[in-house]
Amino acid sequence: MGSSLFDLTGRVAAVSGAARGMGRAMALAFAEHGADLLLADLDAEGMGRTAEQIAGLGRRAACAACDVSDPGQVRDLFARLDREFGRIDVLGNVAGEGVVGRPEDLSVDQLKTTFQNLVVGRFAACQEAGRRMLKAGRGSIINIGSLASVTALGRGHVAYSMAMGAVAQMTRELSTEWAGRGVRVNAILPAQVVNPGLEQRMAADPALKARWLGAIPRGRMGRPEDIQGVAVWLASDSSSWVTGALIPMDGGNLAMNAGGTIGT
Ligand SMILES: NC(=O)c1ccc[n+]([C@@H]2O[C@H](COP(=O)([O-])OP(=O)(O)OC[C@H]3O[C@@H](n4cnc5c(N)ncnc54)[C@H](O)[C@@H]3O)[C@@H](O)[C@H]2O)c1
Repeated sequence: MGSSLFDLTGRVAAVSGAARGMGRAMALAFAEHGADLLLADLDAEGMGRTAEQIAGLGRRAACAACDVSDPGQVRDLFARLDREFGRIDVLGNVAGEGVVGRPEDLSVDQLKTTFQNLVVGRFAACQEAGRRMLKAGRGSIINIGSLASVTALGRGHVAYSMAMGAVAQMTRELSTEWAGRGVRVNAILPAQVVNPGLEQRMAADPALKARWLGAIPRGRMGRPEDIQGVAVWLASDSSSWVTGALIPMDGGNLAMNAGGTIGT
């Protein structure tokens, strides 16, 4: 159990993308600090493994197969939450993928898919969680944005950046509307955190990792566990005066050069 400053005992958190990566790391960290979890992901097997680990920590975890880009499925997810837990204190809005493509080639459908995944999906979950949290007069929503929420990346990220920029503004707008009623909304903006997609891209272009590291003063790529401290802090009462914030988790990338990766 964590120290009282970061204690989540008796709280219920819903986390999407919980089968692996940052969603999984976040869910485990919440459980370590006392929370029970509703996990959501497309990958039932991976989610089951996360749930087993949470049970091993003595906390309860329910798994919901859910495509977060479909607001109907997000509604069902929260109906399940009502039935099984009857409350929500924390939302970790993590899952959702972008489409990479050069601006001159990208189709409008690809742009729409990216917005459906990252903007509509995150908003639907914020709205469902927010309605419940407003009724309770308390809650913490954590959206995962990106460096691309606040700076351009190039390399075919136009759709992703447009969507992640919307996630930043959604965070600020929701915070502005809801903070006075007890619901805090913040975003974490990660730089490159190693995941299977990044590993594939590094394998395809052996120079890519060195180029990324050239823009990360901390000197290493991110790991999914890097999100744990900041997520527990945002979920807990220790951050009760922090809302509407966009918090870089980037090894110093934004401070160094506003996100650009030198030489790309
Ligand atoms: N890894 C990075 O470098 C990085 C940097 C900035 C932002 N992000 C964003 O953070 C989020 C998580 O990244 P990660 O690296 O932990 O990802 P990951 O690829 O390791 O894991 C993503 C998880 O989300 C699930 N998922 C994907 N689409 C889903 C959907 N529509 N509905 C339900 N589940 C879905 C996958 O099954 C998987 O378990 C993504 O939105 C990503 O864009 C990642």
